[in-house]
Amino acid sequence: MSRITVIGGTSYAGSAIVAEAAARGHEVTAYSRSLPDSPIPNVTYVQGDVSDESALAAVIEGADVVAAALAPRGALADSFRDVYRTIARLADAVKVPLIIVGGFSSLRPAPGAPRYVTDLSHAPAEYHAELTTVTALVADDLPATPVTLDWVFVSPAGKFGSHVPGERLGRYRIGDDVALQPKDGGEISGADYALGFVDVIEQGNHHRAHINLGY
Ligand SMILES: NC(=O)c1ccc[n+]([C@@H]2O[C@H](COP(=O)([O-])OP(=O)(O)OC[C@H]3O[C@@H](n4cnc5c(N)ncnc54)[C@H](OP(=O)(O)O)[C@@H]3O)[C@@H](O)[C@H]2O)c1
Repeated sequence: MSRITVIGGTSYAGSAIVAEAAARGHEVTAYSRSLPDSPIPNVTYVQGDVSDESALAAVIEGADVVAAALAPRGALADSFRDVYRTIARLADAVKVPLIIVGGFSSLRPAPGAPRYVTDLSHAPAEYHAELTTVTALVADDLPATPVTLDWVFVSPAGKFGSHVPGERLGRYRIGDDVALQPKDGGEISGADYALGFVDVIEQGNHHRAHINLGY
């Protein structure tokens, strides 16, 4: 049993990770500004803003693993990368692994090929800044952290999110920074993404790595 803090633990991905980890008996803390309408049993919800470094430090210092599922929207549109730099610094200070919910566009179509984000002509313009910002985390910011920080950036399949929640099939495939060739329509449910994500936490096989989960 581990103490797992999920920053943004009430997001679509974050709440699925919280539910999966709590169901496995981990001691889970979810950190966000507001409380969920339907709290998950046996989860400690801590209300706070990620701009409050001392509050962030408190939930990171008390953990064995930190997961984060923030999105560069709203108040975080401009501060997202700085917030993650702070989270990375705090996690490194207490030698706690940092496992981040990433995006599909950060992946590559083939080994060594440019990331999908380099051609966003397929994506609506209002998402471009968000996709670029999330990619900057794994392309620039995380590799630039001290080597003592153990991080994993976990991209989901392209069809993932509250608009396509899917169902729990109890399976997933795992790949590196090259997008898995989809067998089942290029999607993954929130529950199965969380299954893979918590396996990554428990197994500890990936270090300073970009991986992806799909069917
Ligand atoms: N196919 C794909 O590639 C795909 C699809 C969907 C999502 N994603 C990725 O998943 C990640 C999360 O996205 P999402 O859509 O699940 O996010 P979301 O629903 O917008 O949730 C964001 C989470 O962060 C919390 N939060 C926001 N601002 C905060 C602040 N200032 N202080 C503390 N907590 C704050 C929110 O709770 P409060 O508002 O209560 O604070 C919530 O728990 C992103 O990196 C995104 O790229 C990828």
